[in-house]
Amino acid sequence: MKRILLIVGGGIAAYKACEVIRLLKKRGHAVRCVLTEGGSHFITPMTLAALSEEHVHTSLWDLKDEAEMGHIQLSREADLVVVVPATADLLARMAGGQANDLATTVLLATDKPVLAAPAMNVRMWRHAATKRNVARLRADGITVLEPDEGAMACGEYGPGRLPEPAVIVEAIDSALSRASLETIGKLAGRHAIVTAGPTHEPIDPVRYIANRSSGRQGFAVAAALAALGTRVTLVAGPVDLPTPAGVDRIDVESACEMAAAVTAALPAHIAVMVAAVADWRVEAVTQKVKKVGAPPALTLIENPDILAIVAKSPQRPALLVGFAAETENVVANAVAKRTRKDADWIVANDVSAGVFGADANHVRLVTANGVEEWPAAAKSDIAVLLADRIAAALEPS
Ligand code: C5P
Repeated sequence: MKRILLIVGGGIAAYKACEVIRLLKKRGHAVRCVLTEGGSHFITPMTLAALSEEHVHTSLWDLKDEAEMGHIQLSREADLVVVVPATADLLARMAGGQANDLATTVLLATDKPVLAAPAMNVRMWRHAATKRNVARLRADGITVLEPDEGAMACGEYGPGRLPEPAVIVEAIDSALSRASLETIGKLAGRHAIVTAGPTHEPIDPVRYIANRSSGRQGFAVAAALAALGTRVTLVAGPVDLPTPAGVDRIDVESACEMAAAVTAALPAHIAVMVAAVADWRVEAVTQKVKKVGAPPALTLIENPDILAIVAKSPQRPALLVGFAAETENVVANAVAKRTRKDADWIVANDVSAGVFGADANHVRLVTANGVEEWPAAAKSDIAVLLADRIAAALEPS
């Protein structure tokens, strides 16, 4: 359980803060809200109080509030401060170090990590002043998520929509699992390629062979690397997951498409191959196979091994990480795989105990120095640990 101080700003996307609270509570976190004057024109303190099951703070000048829970104590009692929606005005006041209401006073007084999810009109987002403010905040160590692109409440189209609540909550989880703020920005200027999910290998135009992979571990790795400031290209097989904030996503279906997308995305400093790529594909895919006579015999041929291709490439990343899903002899197989595939590290997981689609994972990290067993943890926590290790490994010695 972590304690989140949620500052709700004054924009139409304020109603989505309600869903963020609901998702955070579902994950067992405690949420306390500060509602700005602007925010109270869109949703009421009662809504936030009912969802958070906590008193909602609205004014710096509330004598009772200040006596019982002062603005300094609000941030002292939180593990993370989150701003949803971060309006253009709120970002500007934060960047300017202003303290002219309860929200900005708390933000100035806090020494806790701060994560802001912006939402505003597309031209406001693209305005030089907002760009300047966001750059300032990021340089100050504040995580400002990229807004979504799409239709807006004002009838326009473009970047400026609040990221989906599920994406905000993923980013919150990632920020919460980080040991310290120090790692943020450590991978700035680097490029990472992450593969995730299953591949679908067509049998005919309507049928395919697939494997059991939800893509959640790979998406969490992409999110954790992006949170450290890396440019991330996420090559994703068919999955039903939102794109993590700040990640460039390329959707593919088959192993051959994934291989082509990964090769095209090189060069990279880091490659983390989490995808459960199908080992074989059907040799000749033509028209839909009809259900007449004997069942058809499928001739399978081997798919390209993407990890091996990247390992042999003249543009081989400085750090190449593979995953190994095993049902038996987990360590021995992973150690052998590291050498055979010429990967730097292998993250091995025992999939005999229902990892597919689950929240948690139990892994071992196999490096040239040996095997480390990591405690079972949420996939997002494992991703953060791995990203931190990657940042440490790539630091100039
Ligand atoms: O040999 P195995 O499939 O167990 O290896 C797993 C590792 O290799 C994973 O990192 C997976 O993403 C990668 N892989 C790949 N292309 C394949 C098969 C596996 O990149 N065709």
